[in-house]
Amino acid sequence: MDQPQVTEIKTVRDVDVDVAQIGLRVDFNVPLDKAGNITDDTRIRAALPTIKYLIDHNARVILMSHLGRPDGKVVERLRLTPVAERLTQLLGKPVVKAPDCIGPQVEALVGGMRPGDVILLENLRFYPDEEKNDRGFAQKLANLGDIYVDDAFGTAHRAHASTAGVADFLPAVAGFLMEKEVTVMGRALEVPARLFVAIIGGAKISSKIGVITNLLDKVDYLLIGGGMANTFLKVEGYRIGKSLVEDQHLDLARDLMLRGDEKLVLPVDVVVADKLDATANYKTVDIEGVPDDWIIVDIGPRTVARFSDIISKAKTVVWNGPMGVFEISPFAQGTRAIAESLARSQAVTIVGGGESVAAVEQMGVADKITHVSTGGGATLEFLEGRVLPGVAVLQKKAGGSD
Ligand code: 3PG
Repeated sequence: MDQPQVTEIKTVRDVDVDVAQIGLRVDFNVPLDKAGNITDDTRIRAALPTIKYLIDHNARVILMSHLGRPDGKVVERLRLTPVAERLTQLLGKPVVKAPDCIGPQVEALVGGMRPGDVILLENLRFYPDEEKNDRGFAQKLANLGDIYVDDAFGTAHRAHASTAGVADFLPAVAGFLMEKEVTVMGRALEVPARLFVAIIGGAKISSKIGVITNLLDKVDYLLIGGGMANTFLKVEGYRIGKSLVEDQHLDLARDLMLRGDEKLVLPVDVVVADKLDATANYKTVDIEGVPDDWIIVDIGPRTVARFSDIISKAKTVVWNGPMGVFEISPFAQGTRAIAESLARSQAVTIVGGGESVAAVEQMGVADKITHVSTGGGATLEFLEGRVLPGVAVLQKKAGGSD
């Protein structure tokens, strides 16, 4: 089964949602602080266009989500109550939080809904059946609606009852967020405007092997920064001091470099520090000059200039993973500069994966990026070219393939 062609997926526009009862899977798995307050509501805001569209069409909207990993038990601090409150504020209309996600109380609540009403079911993962993709559980969820709309791109890599199983019982179409995620990233991978440049960073190669392998065949340039560059640099024969290196992946890095040939671009200078905190001594050195007892913590200005020059010529840019230890402010310059290069670029720019998304937000340029993905693991798997179960179950437009 191929990844469905993006334009082939049916969306809420392709079905009659007027006055219908809609089971809308969203990814409201938002970060909470110790007191249970939402620290980032991006994922809630990202689902608003679909929710508002359904309200405007007088649908009855039954929202379903997980929050955290309660492992099939009721965990009080993982109730979706604060999410319902935030959504109430954002929508400017009451969102009822159901006490459960299945069962007689929920059925009674749903039975009493009027057109345009919105209900948020309790955390799906309070039941082990959700993650097991239990057929009976999926059917109970399906019984609550007439149509299943999936807007939970962030959870599309999970084959769970609410992301996959439910589609056995209801017509399944995408919401606007799902459509945007799959369309923008799908086009970039399948029919990119060129030059197509990928920037891959983050601490370890091991977590990005699939992404690098898939992208290497598709891109014109693959720029490598962050801790993972060290393993490639070691293959090239550079001394990398006490920097993180994955010796078990040296062969893989060598293979990728052979395959990538001229496409792979590595740092030519780096910032090194004598320890990993904000009080460290640090300096910029050429890649030949990393001192034995120091750690590489960022890309240097010559590398930034080189990467930025390539980005400026690109028509499609995908960025995943920071260029250095950006959470420590003196080591955030490289990541900041790359974020700014993307913000200046006229290309289709896509930023995916938790840390790089945090970086563009922290640097205040998220609104200048074409698409900031709401997925973490889902985005990585999509960029790896894998079929996401939550996308595979969605109906295709006429002429599309399964
Ligand atoms: C995510 O935050 O990546 C999604 O909500 C999926 O969560 P999970 O990794 O707990 O399945």
